Amino acid sequence: MSTSSLLPSTMKAVCFTQAGAPDVLHLETIQVPQPGRGEVLVRVMAAGVNRPDIMQRKGLYPPPPGACPRLGLEIAGEVVALGLPQDGVTMPALGSRVCALANGGGYAEYCLVPAGQCLPWPANFNAIEAAALPETFFTVWSNLFMPTILPKDTRVLIHGGSSGIGTTAIQLVKAFGGKAFATAGTAEKCDLCTELGAQAINYKTEDFAERIATLTKNEGVNVILDMIGGAYFDRNLKCLAPDGRLVIIALQGGAKAEQANLARIMTRRLTVTGSTLRARDNGSKARIAQDLAAKVWPLLANGTIRPFIHQTFPLAQAAAAHQAMEDGKHFGKIILTVDSLAA
Ligand SMILES: NC(=O)c1ccc[n+]([C@@H]2O[C@H](COP(=O)([O-])OP(=O)(O)OC[C@H]3O[C@@H](n4cnc5c(N)ncnc54)[C@H](OP(=O)(O)O)[C@@H]3O)[C@@H](O)[C@H]2O)c1
Repeated sequence: MSTSSLLPSTMKAVCFTQAGAPDVLHLETIQVPQPGRGEVLVRVMAAGVNRPDIMQRKGLYPPPPGACPRLGLEIAGEVVALGLPQDGVTMPALGSRVCALANGGGYAEYCLVPAGQCLPWPANFNAIEAAALPETFFTVWSNLFMPTILPKDTRVLIHGGSSGIGTTAIQLVKAFGGKAFATAGTAEKCDLCTELGAQAINYKTEDFAERIATLTKNEGVNVILDMIGGAYFDRNLKCLAPDGRLVIIALQGGAKAEQANLARIMTRRLTVTGSTLRARDNGSKARIAQDLAAKVWPLLANGTIRPFIHQTFPLAQAAAAHQAMEDGKHFGKIILTVDSLAA
């Protein structure tokens, strides 16, 4: 292992011993981990809070085998130690600042990350903004734009348009020449979706499928990024144009679709797919990172797209950050600050 400076042997990290409400989260002093082959140790300045963290804390989304069991899937910070090199993996330089997709453990002063999951820290971003990128950009990019970029004018319906995922998806669809439609549950959240470039639909006051039919002159959308699952399955199928694709990334409305007209899949040649980022292996995550670096990071650097930050909390207040996300009044991202220089 090579290090940039003398590292402490212990660090503060957010831990929980049993699943439950936000107040199960507490700070503990634990050993600073040492990077293995192909890994780097990052001194964390800021860490993103994501809905999957809430699910994990509740015991509903166990980490995959071998992953760090502590919370935190994205960080920004300084590389302070390198593990042994691994074939085919480029290690970031010691002392460089990166944002990274973590395999857990981001809510801490130090976090181990596979080197291939590090991305450059975009110029002019502070730590809070840099930490807000990995989880949503890896998820949206891999589900909507890989293996092929969406053709220009593709119509994309994004559920949860004001979420961390939604604000990223709307901006990426717009940046690549698509037409974005987004659902949100309040007038203010719809305003944000409109500001970001989507045609907004208040799913609490309108039937989104009827609204999509009107807005698209009955042509439907080509792709749907869905985080609701069962409760929306039939209406999602109804919204899709021939050869359309439904991509399910979460099941907030249940895993079972009680009633769905499957004939639509055949008659319109629809594709139904989905994925979870955390379960992908490191090689797959590294390929997404490479694609993002080449095709998306230039758009962050030139200001075409940006993360939308709602609120920050110090690391010690992770429980309050989780409560804020569960209250559901946020627009965009909630971030934990670990370092006083984060902003
Ligand atoms: N598969 C993956 O790899 C992956 C990775 C990351 C995240 N995710 C999932 O993506 C979703 C967003 O994550 P996040 O971290 O960005 O969380 P978040 O900011 O808390 O977003 C949750 C969103 O769900 C929306 N929502 C809830 N019920 C809805 C409904 N009936 N119709 C439309 N929207 C509804 C909420 O919208 P309103 O507030 O307007 O109701 C809110 O915007 C989560 O479900 C998360 O589990 C999946």
